[in-house]
Amino acid sequence: MSGGDDFLAAYETPRLARLAPNLFAACFPLMKLLPARFMLERAQADGRLRSGGPVAETTSGTFGLALAMLAAVRGFDLTLVSAASLINDTLRRRLEFLGAIVHIIDDPEGSGAQRERLDRLNAILKDRPETFWPRQYDNPDNRLAYGRLAEGITHEIGHVDCLVGCVGSGGSLCGTGGFLRELFPELTMIAVDTHRSVLFGHAAGRRLLRGLGNSIVPSNLRHEMVDEVHWVGALPAFGSAHRLHHDHALFMGPTSGAAALVAAWHARKHPEAVTVVILPDEGHRYQNTVYDDEWLAALDGWPVAAPDEPETLDRIEARGESEWTRLVWDRKPAPTMIKAERGV
Ligand SMILES: Cc1ncc(COP(=O)(O)O)c(C=O)c1O
Repeated sequence: MSGGDDFLAAYETPRLARLAPNLFAACFPLMKLLPARFMLERAQADGRLRSGGPVAETTSGTFGLALAMLAAVRGFDLTLVSAASLINDTLRRRLEFLGAIVHIIDDPEGSGAQRERLDRLNAILKDRPETFWPRQYDNPDNRLAYGRLAEGITHEIGHVDCLVGCVGSGGSLCGTGGFLRELFPELTMIAVDTHRSVLFGHAAGRRLLRGLGNSIVPSNLRHEMVDEVHWVGALPAFGSAHRLHHDHALFMGPTSGAAALVAAWHARKHPEAVTVVILPDEGHRYQNTVYDDEWLAALDGWPVAAPDEPETLDRIEARGESEWTRLVWDRKPAPTMIKAERGV
């Protein structure tokens, strides 16, 4: 391990914070380093990636940043494909500074241009067939990387009754939950999504809360593992991130805010149960947005009155960015429309 690798290891190692007597948070500086490193190492081990070889991926931000940090330290030749609504100039410059080639697709509607990004990536792969594509959405190594987190949680906390986590690729929640459920078969798993993400059946649409949610359904999301899904709008997620900072001095990103909101509610409702929540990244990237008063003041509906609890739905429906809803999913397989999209 080089000096740079030592330093990166600190980013993928969470600190455990106790938010309430029965609520623990695994706070990552940059969670995506964990699966990124694991996927690259596995690919090198079985010959899919040679030392210093080409790597390409489509990303909405943090996975690309993790790959770029690893590429800089380990000398890979990295190409990233993203969309204008997902990557601002600051992040783009940072990725390029780390040595990555960055392709940005225009998406004036703010859709994230998931399909167009995949098309561009396929063209890159066709051009250089020796390129390794980590495929965070479908590569099972994404989930398997979280064995380390499950071990750390078990070592530090012991028995866990409930795991709460954001869902984008599904890797962190389903990976960590898969290992924990081997140890604690009764484990409740709660997925945190946002309105107009297709992961649990909403129609795709503009999303203000990014990093979690998706406009395609990755196979690393195992619907049949999930007990309950929460759709948290951007505004309550931002408010919750502020409270994490104010009440616990935890400076975390907005998806952490969404997950913490749900986990705190569950922990209050189940004082006898131990709840663990995964907080995926820190707040630095969001200083000019989620932590900026002017940016917030321009948002429709801000400031939002902090909801104490979600509205429980009996059917899948999207709401506005101020709302927080929940549905008992009951470990059902992917809904039919999602299966159709996946072609299964
Ligand atoms: C900031 C942030 N939060 C949450 C997630 C969702 O994690 P996962 O992809 O493991 O489902 C991501 C994924 O990229 C992310 O970048």
